[in-house]
Amino acid sequence: MSANWTDVVVVARHDTTPRIAVFDLARTDGGELGEYEPGAHIDVTVEEGGKAGRLDLIRQYSLCGPPDLRKQYRIAVLNDPASRGGSRAMHAVAEGDTLRISAPRNRFGLSSARRHLLLAGGIGITPLLSMAQALDAAGGDYQLHYCVRSREDAAFAEDLERHPRVTFHYDDQPAPQRLDMERDAGPPDADTALYVCGPGGFMDHVLGRAAELGWPSSALHKERFSAPANAGEPEQGADGAFTVRLSSTGVEYTVAADENVLDVLLANGFDAPYSCGQGICGECIVRVRAGDPDHRDDVLTDEERAEGMFTPCSSRSRTPLLELEL
Ligand code: FES
Repeated sequence: MSANWTDVVVVARHDTTPRIAVFDLARTDGGELGEYEPGAHIDVTVEEGGKAGRLDLIRQYSLCGPPDLRKQYRIAVLNDPASRGGSRAMHAVAEGDTLRISAPRNRFGLSSARRHLLLAGGIGITPLLSMAQALDAAGGDYQLHYCVRSREDAAFAEDLERHPRVTFHYDDQPAPQRLDMERDAGPPDADTALYVCGPGGFMDHVLGRAAELGWPSSALHKERFSAPANAGEPEQGADGAFTVRLSSTGVEYTVAADENVLDVLLANGFDAPYSCGQGICGECIVRVRAGDPDHRDDVLTDEERAEGMFTPCSSRSRTPLLELEL
């Protein structure tokens, strides 16, 4: 959980579609907000029922305004009937209400590739929009493919429709204009990085087709809103209790089969950082000193896992003891 919150006021709110509201946030004290890189997100606290400011609900939203704007942050929130309550609460927030936000975090930044292929599904447009704006400002080479149910559901459509680097793909339109990974992404090339953000089914389709087309995982950059359907499934023999040891003190805790490491640390008064609690944001990452982790996150790269990174909110241990660098 973020230790440092900033009080902000909603200085403007408008609906970009019937279900997507856009909020512009500024510090209540008039100061500047922290710098961020395109693709970053913030935690936002909102009280269930609409009043803002209490730590009732904490949700992550990508920053989708121009990244060089220091006086305001912009977020866009889909009112999703299937959500856990955060989006409904946010949609009850009005201009003039105050919220508390964390500093921006980013595990979905632009790579050093020469060309960037941005693939957005629905509200997944938000982090990719800030990437597109940054690339426009820097004269970068990119294409943005925006897949959405219908024209009515397309956020920021009026601006994006005029943009020569943006292609829309509508679910309710004839098949030829829908996203075709073979045509729209094609085979990998060493100079191009692919970025994808959107609902789980869309992400799985894009990443699956990219893998079939030969794209290496190192060229694929993704950000999920929720854990994939198979997240948390145990590897064989890895679903029982185990012991976690903190390397700094040698203190050991038992993690029961129905607990996770993060909850055990928090229950024992350990001030561990976390945010999503689902293995998708990377806020809780720690290093493993000993033992064999059973990774159940969807945020660490193969290289990071090989370097001993571990997400205590979602991952477990295949060995009876796991020692963490804490
Ligand atoms: S809290 Fe988000 S990955 Fe662990």
